[in-house]
Amino acid sequence: MSSLSAPQIRRRKRREGAEPLVMVTAYDEPGARYVDAAGVDIILVGDSLANVVLGHADTLHVSVDEMAHHVRAVSAASPKAHIVADLPWLSYHLDRADTVRNAAVLIRAGAHSVKLEGGRVRLEMVSALLDAEIPVMGHLGLTPQSVLAMGGFKVQAKTLEAAKLLVEDAQALEDAGVFALVIEGVPGEVGRRVTEAVSIPTIGIGAGADTDGQVLVFHDLLGMSARPAAKFVRRYADIGSAITEAVSHFAADVRSGSFPSIDEQYPSAPELSP
Ligand code: KIV
Repeated sequence: MSSLSAPQIRRRKRREGAEPLVMVTAYDEPGARYVDAAGVDIILVGDSLANVVLGHADTLHVSVDEMAHHVRAVSAASPKAHIVADLPWLSYHLDRADTVRNAAVLIRAGAHSVKLEGGRVRLEMVSALLDAEIPVMGHLGLTPQSVLAMGGFKVQAKTLEAAKLLVEDAQALEDAGVFALVIEGVPGEVGRRVTEAVSIPTIGIGAGADTDGQVLVFHDLLGMSARPAAKFVRRYADIGSAITEAVSHFAADVRSGSFPSIDEQYPSAPELSP
């Protein structure tokens, strides 16, 4: 059982004195182990798996089975953090039964809840999941699974009208019973308005400083991403360069004959010595 349940996360509203929620993505056992040791509240097995791990241009190319494979790996770390898994594109768009079956695959792989993208248009599927006792996190704003419909990865809710619609979507998701809401790629003022309009916690990514928590993608915050950093990314390390440097040293040592040393070899019986 995770140390932080969906109902506990549901109560983490900053205006009620709660600490901001910290969420980071992870896609495998070592990643989950490292971020859990840092004390994050939530590990997101995001469908960003498609871009940052599998090398696709967008998140439309990842299946439920691929997601489950990575949820299983994250769960193998037995993190203290709550594990939320993304329902990938087209796994919750067809009908209620299909949606619940797909979410169940992720729950049985080790997730404690699932996340899906979209507002009022998704209410029926949110209710199907909640009927099956599966906690749901929402995701509004720049929803990467809508990249084709949006015509690219573009900041959302830049007009007053669009901001109002976003707030209404957030309220509809709250009324439907989601326990938290990711708000992505909107002006900071919109992140603030949505956060004030709902009593569930909002977790921002490129949504300003006023949300109830923040999420970053593992490879972005550690400097391991091939894609150019978005405006909202703060890079806390340059692990990518550290990896290249370490492997270059290994290659140089192999090529010069200095690896392995005598201490890095198993001793043999004396009669085998030259
Ligand atoms: O898949 C993902 O990493 C996400 C975050 C960007 C919130 O959904």
